[in-house]
Amino acid sequence: MKLTYYGHSCFLVETTTARLILDPFLTGNAAAPIAAADARCDYVLCSHGHEDHTGDALAIAQANDATIVANYEIAEYFAARGAKTHGMNPGGAWTFPFGRVKLTPAIHTSSLNAGLTPLYMGVACGLIIEADGRRLYHAGDTALFLDMQLIARGGLDAALLPIGDNVTMGPADALDALDLLKPKVCVPMHYNTWETIAQDPAAFARAATERVHTVNPLKPGDTLAI
Ligand code: NI
Ligand code: MN
Repeated sequence: MKLTYYGHSCFLVETTTARLILDPFLTGNAAAPIAAADARCDYVLCSHGHEDHTGDALAIAQANDATIVANYEIAEYFAARGAKTHGMNPGGAWTFPFGRVKLTPAIHTSSLNAGLTPLYMGVACGLIIEADGRRLYHAGDTALFLDMQLIARGGLDAALLPIGDNVTMGPADALDALDLLKPKVCVPMHYNTWETIAQDPAAFARAATERVHTVNPLKPGDTLAI
């Protein structure tokens, strides 16, 4: 399994048989290494409704004939706009041709058009992806919560965790999350896109090392094999 960081909380996950884009937010993200029009994938996975996690979902899905995988409300929203979708809910898993996806709880909100008339889009989720014998956790946007220890069951090859603070957990809570999740490697996300989530990923990585965790910050465009 190969991860490529597209900035913010957006990653390309390449398995032996499929390309998945998680939380597509390329348009409007100055750090994005590619344009949405150049994204190539078979599936688009969205952790929750906020535009910085779904902004390019419909355009990318339609351009690639890809399936959007998300909570039921988000899936129905995009299905009504012509996309192929697969709706799920926390605790549920589904085996796709490339592997298995499970939605997890997350503590966060989930809406679209928040600045106008918010459309509430179900609950915010995290994503567990099992493929090629690897197990990956994308936490979405979330606070620290003690049930992360349940997500650790079966082991995690990698955890993608928000560290930006203000709207998700910050670095101190993300360190506690690592104690619960115990992934082989953590890639921080959801920081430095805006002033309100400015963080130093190298400082987070150093603090994690002191607690015997491995953190590998990626620059947008970087790839990591797990
Ligand atoms: Ni959010
Ligand atoms: Mn967000």
